[in-house]
Amino acid sequence: MRHSTLRQLEVFEAIARLKSFTRAAEELFLTQPTVSMQVKKLTEEIGLPLFEQVGKKIYLTDAGEELYRTCLGIFDHFSRFEMIASDMKGLKSGKLRLAVVTTAKYFVPRLLGMFCQKYPGIDVALKVTNREHILERLTGNQDDLYILGQIPDAVDAVAEIFLDNQLVVLASADHPLATEKKIPIKRICDEPFIMREPGSGTRIATELFFSKHNKKLKVRMELGSNEAIKQTVAGRLGIAVLSRHTLALDAQIGQLAILDVEGFPIERHWYFAYSSGKQLSIVAQTFLSYLRQANNLLDNMTCRHMTSGHCPLLENETSIRSGGEASV
Ligand code: PGA
Repeated sequence: MRHSTLRQLEVFEAIARLKSFTRAAEELFLTQPTVSMQVKKLTEEIGLPLFEQVGKKIYLTDAGEELYRTCLGIFDHFSRFEMIASDMKGLKSGKLRLAVVTTAKYFVPRLLGMFCQKYPGIDVALKVTNREHILERLTGNQDDLYILGQIPDAVDAVAEIFLDNQLVVLASADHPLATEKKIPIKRICDEPFIMREPGSGTRIATELFFSKHNKKLKVRMELGSNEAIKQTVAGRLGIAVLSRHTLALDAQIGQLAILDVEGFPIERHWYFAYSSGKQLSIVAQTFLSYLRQANNLLDNMTCRHMTSGHCPLLENETSIRSGGEASV
């Protein structure tokens, strides 16, 4: 056991948590053979099987369950030590583990760019995934901070609003509704609709809006990416509801129109959050204070002043300079 490396334990922990070799390999930016090899070595070292496969599903054996608990304890101790060490060094160095929902990737990297310019010694690990997975990570206290839409009451977390998030109805620029004003909600339900995947916050808010108005959308397609949805809308396959932030960096913005629909935009907010009882590092606290000014920082970079019609290409874009890993 003493020869097992921290990397092997990290690989094991990811598989045990995600119940998938493939998803663990993706999360750790490793190939699947590398992941399998690390688990094989660890299993040989321990001398007991850690996983068992029934059909396509992976389960932890009793030894696996015990090791999983041990791993969580080890990683927790390490991250506490990292926090103490970086607090000792002040803001000269340190790590910020940030996990954000898919849609937040349109503005978070720009905020991070500016933050990292101010504090060049800070290393940022940015995880981008949908709302459902962010809530799982928040419940498991896997990162320092989270950025997401409203948090369910059942989740034990500290949360604060720091930015507005308007959801708008998008259509292709030459769509017949693009020039109409005050389009009734029921008219939107006649159009083929392109929906985000289950687990997405955008989807939950959209479904809630239409069900509150006793209306049912004609969903033609479900896609797990805002970019793919915009391409599909521009390709005239349907209309969609997405955050206005998704338009912020769009080079082909001229191909899309924001429709003037009754009841829209849906007013949502971006929250930052962390697990209740978590002791934030100095780096995380500094990033929180920085996020509280996000409205001013992003003011010139988004299409927030557009209400309908085409959104012009943005000027003054800031390039992304944040360090660390990023994944979608
Ligand atoms: P999503 O979340 O990117 O998972 O849709 C966005 C939101 O909660 O508004």
